[in-house]
Amino acid sequence: MSIEPINDKQAVAIHAAKYVKNGMLVGLGTGSTANYFIEELARRQKDERLKVTTIASSNVSMIKAQSLGLNVIALAQVAEIDLYVDGADEITPDMTLLKGRGYDLVLEKLLAKAAKQFLVVADKSKLVERIGTNYAIPIEVMPMAWKAAKHSLEEAGGVGELRQNVAKDGLTVSSHGSLVLDMAFDKSISEQTLNALINNTPGVVEHGIFYGLTSAVLIAENGHIEERWR
Ligand code: 5RP
Repeated sequence: MSIEPINDKQAVAIHAAKYVKNGMLVGLGTGSTANYFIEELARRQKDERLKVTTIASSNVSMIKAQSLGLNVIALAQVAEIDLYVDGADEITPDMTLLKGRGYDLVLEKLLAKAAKQFLVVADKSKLVERIGTNYAIPIEVMPMAWKAAKHSLEEAGGVGELRQNVAKDGLTVSSHGSLVLDMAFDKSISEQTLNALINNTPGVVEHGIFYGLTSAVLIAENGHIEERWR
């Protein structure tokens, strides 16, 4: 039995779950919108006997999916997945994303790249003209290389600091064991250039700009879903 969404995040997650077909290998995102998608997938498995295998982008999503009865396998077992559905912190008109506020971005980007289709689910508040409008760019760095990486990024005009933990008495360590630099850059640098610049910085493990990876963004506004395909 289908359910009545309680908000736009749930509405768009339920809509995205309609793209999951029998036998698919599906990547599960991380965050509140992705959580609604995991719940809907589990509901379809139970109510509609949907046959699906999943790969989680974080421990928290893996625990949630398993607790709802979904079969979760490890990324190490596969080279490609059928579909990846995840949220984003910012989405530009050319479908570049900013992700990783939850510091699970290493697996998130691996799944986005491994997916035949990557669907981004969000409410309208995530639409921006430029990456970096509302958040700094999270950049995961090897702990031993954080100073060298920060220096390189500063030479390219970046400004920022290591992310602290919630209690502000220590540093944030990502799921992957990296430290996180939150850096802002000059607004005149294009997303494509910024992506290449950070990719080419030694010591950087991964970063939150998802450039050229999105197949479609599904945007919810007051219960209405707009689909934008590449
Ligand atoms: C986590 C992410 C999330 O997808 C992003 O933060 C959006 O979260 P939410 O759906 O809770 O708004 O990138 O790394």
